[in-house]
Amino acid sequence: MLKVAVVGVGGMGNVHIKAYRRMQDVQLVALCDVVPEKITDLCAELGARGYTDYREMLGQEEIDILDIVTPSYIHKEIAIAAMEKGINVTTEKPIALCEQDAKDVFDCAKRTGVKFMVAHVLRFWPEYQALKRMVEEKTYGELLDARLFRIGRAPKWSWDNWMMDKERSGWVPFDLHIHDLDFILYLMDGKMPDGIQVHRITNMETATMDHVMAAYTFGKTVFNTEAAWFDSTYPFTAGFLAHFEQAIVEYNGKAVTVYTRDEEGKTLEFGAQGDSTGINLPDTDAYYNELRYFADHVAQDKPIDCMKEEELTNVLNIIDNHF
Ligand SMILES: NC(=O)c1ccc[n+]([C@@H]2O[C@H](COP(=O)([O-])OP(=O)(O)OC[C@H]3O[C@@H](n4cnc5c(N)ncnc54)[C@H](O)[C@@H]3O)[C@@H](O)[C@H]2O)c1
Repeated sequence: MLKVAVVGVGGMGNVHIKAYRRMQDVQLVALCDVVPEKITDLCAELGARGYTDYREMLGQEEIDILDIVTPSYIHKEIAIAAMEKGINVTTEKPIALCEQDAKDVFDCAKRTGVKFMVAHVLRFWPEYQALKRMVEEKTYGELLDARLFRIGRAPKWSWDNWMMDKERSGWVPFDLHIHDLDFILYLMDGKMPDGIQVHRITNMETATMDHVMAAYTFGKTVFNTEAAWFDSTYPFTAGFLAHFEQAIVEYNGKAVTVYTRDEEGKTLEFGAQGDSTGINLPDTDAYYNELRYFADHVAQDKPIDCMKEEELTNVLNIIDNHF
């Protein structure tokens, strides 16, 4: 059995816990949250021990994997503390709020020899994995351009309102746009774009609005992106429209449809049986897939090859320098 501990049991922490509960070979041995009421019942149900201080948990527990799902500003500190104790670590995105901090975390992973993975879930999202395969295999010819978006209302429901605090969340570039930017660099094999153009409309003082529109060019291929916290009840919506030489491929957040020159739209099936995220998306296996990948690679002592350090530090380099 792999012994897993989770730190940060809020919105996304609960999604991760649901995924671990589907794994026969994983035992959730400890949960940590600064708000004890968030873990008391869960610990009793799981037979796990509860902590309000992650340092105390790391000092007392023998764990194979620490999963960090706290607010973003503290990922680095907790990741380094755990890795120094020889614990394998996965952390929610963003790994950190600047490129140098991300490099420090990777350096610590290399020095301590533990396995480390940032949970960039789109790399495990079946609909986005299908897009990656189409680009690699040139199923519909070359990718000419694509639009990737994730837009919705500002998240005013987070613990201590940390999401609304730029120092603690980095706002939309680090919270939402980072998903699509990371996926674009992954599609382009980690290369830096030749061109970057950013437009941003922000008003977090008198409204809660941060709207990012960014274009990235790689040779002749163009990516247009949009990410937003709107000051409105607009429901969360994410997806892509990819324009290949021989087809348009659309993911509208619900289904992927391929439109060729002659055929009417054909919907691809992915057979998700997974977990609800609590946001306006259909149930997905993506969070299960990413955590299953990490658990397998720890159990079998295989290198974490789903993402390269350079891809992730390049993402933060772009955000540091252009937003
Ligand atoms: N991959 C995705 O799709 C996705 C979606 C949402 C959030 N996230 C990421 O997940 C992380 C958590 O976001 P969330 O929406 O769950 O936030 P949240 O505010 O709902 O939950 C954060 C939890 O951490 C706890 N906490 C705060 N400081 C702590 C500390 N020092 N030690 C232990 N617990 C602490 C809070 O009490 C709260 O329960 C963020 O980094 C965010 O970027 C990822």
